[in-house]
Amino acid sequence: MAEKRAVETRMSKKRVAILISGRGSNMAALVEAAKAKDYPAEIVLVLSNRADAAGLDHARKAGIATAIVDHRLFGEDRAAFDRALDAQLQAHQIDIVCLAGFMRLLTPAFVERWTGRMLNIHPALLPHFKGLDTHRRALEAGVKQHGATVHFVVPEMDSGPIVAQGAVPVREGDTEDSLAQRVLEVEHRLYPHALRLVAEGRTTFAAASGKEPSR
Ligand code: GRF
Repeated sequence: MAEKRAVETRMSKKRVAILISGRGSNMAALVEAAKAKDYPAEIVLVLSNRADAAGLDHARKAGIATAIVDHRLFGEDRAAFDRALDAQLQAHQIDIVCLAGFMRLLTPAFVERWTGRMLNIHPALLPHFKGLDTHRRALEAGVKQHGATVHFVVPEMDSGPIVAQGAVPVREGDTEDSLAQRVLEVEHRLYPHALRLVAEGRTTFAAASGKEPSR
C-alpha cells in the first residue's frame, strides 16, 4: 500500500524549473526538500541568466539539468529573452516555475503565460517593502516584524496573490546583515512549504487571490 502510494506520488510529481541569478540558497533548499519521496514536485531544471551564478554548480552536483539564457545576448529585446526562457521551459515540460533570486523583470506576455504556475520569493512581508533593499528599508521604518513572502507572479512586481509568509522579529541592534540572515533561514523553510501547497493543488491562484475558497 505504502509502495503504491509512493509510486503514485512519483508518477504525479510536478516538474519544476528554478530560475536564479546568483547564490542560489533558496534553490538549494528546494532541491533538498524535493529529495523526499513524498514531496509532490521534482526539480528538473535550474536556469540562470548568468553563467557565473554560484547556484549552478550546486545544481550540477545534484545531477539537475542546467541552462543559461544570457540576457545580454538579447540587448533591449526583453520579449526575445523571455521567448528563449519559455523555449527552455517547454523543452523540459515544466509545470511550475520558481523564481529564486532571479534578477530580471519579465514581460507581461511571459508572466501571463505562466499565471498560476509561477512563484517568487520576496524577502519582506508583502505588501510592505516591495522592490530592492528590503532589510535596510525595514530597519529604517522601525518595523518590529519582518520576514519573507512566497507569491504567485503577476506582471506588477512583488504584487501577486500570496501563497505563504514567514515572520521574524526585528531585534535591537540588528544590522542589514543580521536581519537578512534571520530572514533567509525562514525563506529556506518557507519556499519548500509554499511549493508543496501549490504542487498539491492545495493553493491555487484563484484561491490565493480570494476568488475561490482554498481546499
Ligand atoms: C533571497 O533573499 C530572495 O528572497 C530574493 O533574492 C534572494 C536570493 O537569495 N528574491 P538566494 O540566491 O536564494 O541565496
